[in-house]
Amino acid sequence: MLPLKSQNVWFRIKEMKYSNYSAVIIGSGIAGLYAALKIRQQVNLPDGLLLITKSKLGESNSRYAQGGMVGVMKENHADSTQAHISDTIKAGAGLSEFNTVKFVSEKSDMVIRDLLEFGVEFDKDENGEFMYTLEAAHSVNRVLHSGGDATGRMIERALCEKVKENPDIDVYEKTMAVELLVNSECRGVIVFNEITQEYEVIYSSCVILATGGAGQLYRYTTNPAGASSDGIALAYKAGAVLQDMEFIQFHPTALAIDTEEHLFLISEALRGEGAKLVDSDGREFMYKYHELKELAPRDVVTRANFNEMIDKSNVYLNATCIDSGKLAKRFPNISRKCLEYGIDISKDFIPVTPAAHYFMGGVKTNLNGETSVKRLFAIGETASTGLHGGNRLASNSLLECAVCAYAIAKHLKSQELKSPKQIDKKIKAHIDEYSDEAVFLEEIDIEIPRKELRNIMWEYAGILRSEKSLVKAAQELEKLRCNFPRGSKCLNIEEYELRHMICTSGLIINAALARKESRGAHFRSDYPQTNEECIHSIACSGENIELPASKEEIFVK
Ligand code: FAD
Ligand code: SIN
Repeated sequence: MLPLKSQNVWFRIKEMKYSNYSAVIIGSGIAGLYAALKIRQQVNLPDGLLLITKSKLGESNSRYAQGGMVGVMKENHADSTQAHISDTIKAGAGLSEFNTVKFVSEKSDMVIRDLLEFGVEFDKDENGEFMYTLEAAHSVNRVLHSGGDATGRMIERALCEKVKENPDIDVYEKTMAVELLVNSECRGVIVFNEITQEYEVIYSSCVILATGGAGQLYRYTTNPAGASSDGIALAYKAGAVLQDMEFIQFHPTALAIDTEEHLFLISEALRGEGAKLVDSDGREFMYKYHELKELAPRDVVTRANFNEMIDKSNVYLNATCIDSGKLAKRFPNISRKCLEYGIDISKDFIPVTPAAHYFMGGVKTNLNGETSVKRLFAIGETASTGLHGGNRLASNSLLECAVCAYAIAKHLKSQELKSPKQIDKKIKAHIDEYSDEAVFLEEIDIEIPRKELRNIMWEYAGILRSEKSLVKAAQELEKLRCNFPRGSKCLNIEEYELRHMICTSGLIINAALARKESRGAHFRSDYPQTNEECIHSIACSGENIELPASKEEIFVK
């Protein structure tokens, strides 16, 4: 059994609440916020629009984005959509879907200009022209940034303001989606408000998952506490097809100063400006691993760091070769944070380590954000559109969030969005699970199993995997799952998060076992070669889905 915090027995009787909406968006990162604004702007919503977030509005992975957002801008004559498409596909290790890449790339200029209309600002030079930076595996400078190295925070801030100003967007904070209501199609969602301890059934004509990533499944991650894969686990339970679950991107340069929740990121843009990776003797080593050295694709740099750390224990980023004035102006956030730890980045080497950073897989969607479950949509990091393949090109994520949020609004314009007024037996049964009058729950110390799960995933399903390590991961996870003493109802948001983390971890392990090759971010030490054939892997629950017909796809249960 898991450690009980105390012998307290909680007793709760609450009335179930009910409401009706035309559309519900779950998540207030850049994907969710921008989708809310675009949908409100363009779509007829007879029953209104609700945005739910388990955190405070704007607390999300998005907020921590540093390097920037890809802008394939018409005025940047050094760049072109062809070049961006080619870079994305090369970095994606053969799995990116051409049509998706083309779609996202071609919409880049348009969504950037639209974001400007919503008050987002990108850094400009003294002539008023956009400043473009370079990141790994980009063939030209094309990454737009804001506030130097605070791109995510700046975009979030602007979009949050617009959402708050808009009286036609209802917002629930500290409210967690705990169950999707699905019969043959999605009819709404059950949410749990941690402050009032109330459950609410929200019937809605469509539900949009914008719940972000899964970095918290790993001991070391750049992702804040909320990145617990909720949307992926909820969609899986609802029968949606998931894709490419084995592809976790590890960032090579998180600040190697341990904090329980997440590690501070040292942006790739520093390497774009000339910083070098060095070992504990101050010697550069990337030339041994790839001709692009520090600007090789992220998976390559991560494995190089990991390898050097086995031999020499520490690796560092040397940014002292960059002009100190430029460092302070271009990277104010990183300079300040490092200084808090006594590291002056203009003089000292920065200790760095790989950490889980981005989830390439997720809920399989088409370019309208539609999942395999009717009326259930997914956008942003939770979705798997096929853009990133086996390894995401830097700064393509914020772009994908914006393009897909824009596209979903366009798609919904032609739909009739009336909240469902009738429900069937299956949905009623779901609701009944949450509406029992009384519940007895013993308080558990959730931090202990959460830490254990993160250690299991880091040790056995991390940067290097093998059949042996993955089987061990599956066994350890199963013990954890069996000891988790909760059914439908949990006591708080953290417990629901753990429930989702256990589910998604199992799916990642299964998908990683099934892919008997090394490709992109998925490296199998027992299968170090990449196969010639490129196949997406699909994980599915087998309910409510039309399986994709392609025989190139493999199915993992
Ligand atoms: P998020 O921004 O993660 O938002 C998810 C939201 O969903 C949150 O509000 C969360 O509270 C809410 N939520 C989750 N589950 C539930 C639930 N069950 N119920 C209710 N609410 C829920 N990408 C780039 O392109 N460029 C960069 O420079 C860059 N830098 C990065 C730096 C860091 C440190 C990190 C962590 C990531 C970075 N990324 C970058 C990746 C990028 O930030 C994310 O992929 C992107 O912001 C994801 O946006 P999102 O809207 O999909 O999800
Ligand atoms: C970074 O700034 O290094 C992160 C960029 C990204 O993840 O796209």
